[in-house]
Amino acid sequence: MALTLRRSAMVTQAVLAIVLLFAVAYSATPAAGLGRGMVGGRTKIKDVETNEAVQELGRYSVEEYNRSHSKRHEVDGGEHLVFSQVVEAEKQVVSGIKYYLKIEAMAIDKLPETFDAVVVVKPWMHSKELLNFSPSPAIK
Ligand SMILES: *[C@@H]1O[C@H](CO)[C@@H](O)[C@H](O)[C@H]1NC(C)=O
Repeated sequence: MALTLRRSAMVTQAVLAIVLLFAVAYSATPAAGLGRGMVGGRTKIKDVETNEAVQELGRYSVEEYNRSHSKRHEVDGGEHLVFSQVVEAEKQVVSGIKYYLKIEAMAIDKLPETFDAVVVVKPWMHSKELLNFSPSPAIK
């Protein structure tokens, strides 16, 4: 009896672990943004130009990029960027809110370029983190 109970508890735990794994894998996949309003799905943010919180996140992304670049700056002369504006944004609920930003910024004496940034914000922890910042591959 005790043995059966323990075994079924172990099976339950194993099943839970598998379900959890799938849930994590699913929510971590950018391609999960299929259905609108679905948990883990990506939703487009409207009126990005006038959304101060989103523009602030864009500025933060460029600042972080500058910061991580200033260490390399002395070595390979990497360029800093000047933030212009966020032109497109999507958000996704994960453990926090994940923002996918399309940012316009420019290096000194260069034309504006578009970059893709991913930022995770956890308001209850007063934290935000830049996960990715890279030149945008395609401009429509
Ligand atoms: C990034 O560095 C450049 C050059 O030092 C500076 O002009 C710019 O204001 C910095 N930050 C942002 C957010 O643009």
